[in-house]
Amino acid sequence: MVIFLNGAYVSEDTQISYNDRGIQFGDGVYEVVRVYHGELYTAKEHFERLVRSTKEIAIESPYSVQDYIDICNRLVKENNIDNGTVYIQVTRGDAVRNHAYPKDVKPNVLLYTNIAERPMQDMQQGIKAITTEDFRWLRCDIKSLNLLGNVMNKQKAVEAGAKEAIQIRDGIVTEGSSSNVFIVKDGKIITHPVNHYILNGITRRVIKQIADEAGIPFEEFTYDEKALKNADEVFISSTTQEVMPVVEIDGENINQGKVGPIVKQLQTKFNEQIITIQSEKA
Ligand code: PDD
Repeated sequence: MVIFLNGAYVSEDTQISYNDRGIQFGDGVYEVVRVYHGELYTAKEHFERLVRSTKEIAIESPYSVQDYIDICNRLVKENNIDNGTVYIQVTRGDAVRNHAYPKDVKPNVLLYTNIAERPMQDMQQGIKAITTEDFRWLRCDIKSLNLLGNVMNKQKAVEAGAKEAIQIRDGIVTEGSSSNVFIVKDGKIITHPVNHYILNGITRRVIKQIADEAGIPFEEFTYDEKALKNADEVFISSTTQEVMPVVEIDGENINQGKVGPIVKQLQTKFNEQIITIQSEKA
């Protein structure tokens, strides 16, 4: 497999310095972009968010949105990726360990591809989730490499036999450990507003667009654990999980443990977009 590191297309055993600020401080940002049938999906939106994330932590991205897209396309081609992802990481660079931003440091930019099939079975059957305290930092809008809170909460879910941890801060449902969270009540989709408590998910934006086109009300309000558990339907979204139904939370069924009609409608519309990518390629 070919990876991209700081301007060069190199082999996957290329090393990163132990002085990389990403390793020592988690001082960097990342993105995960989906590849369907060899084509990047919503790449522009992902790289605009990446550039925003770098700006928020005062890293000057050495590449433009279009540069990142070109690099991804080359990697996808060279590594022959049909369905998969591209992982992109930008760290502040290499410097002797010292908390404050070092001067004259050059960002390290790493991109690599993964093969990943769509989670078809889970999307059809729905997944189990747990609720857990959201004890992460207060800049969840930055797609930071610092994922310890997310990692700890995901592990808690896995140990409980579930696939996602729905995080709750001060009584309010924020987002999943690696996804955005939505409830459906009386035909309306409700999700946490975009602010520093959540990541402004690209899949969330696609869902909003699909809902708008289908005439399904999409409301950005905060809601609590009770509303979550009393919802008609619950689902999560992410680049890798797409529109993923949640049919059980903390051992309690949602919609009698079945995938509900609004989720199915969103999934159908989402699929249509992917089928369009496939047919445009053929
Ligand atoms: N995570 N919220 C969090 C905390 C996330 O980590 C993610 C995605 C999302 C959804 O964002 P998007 O729709 O843009 O993928 C929301 C990625 C996939 C990951 O860390 O692997």
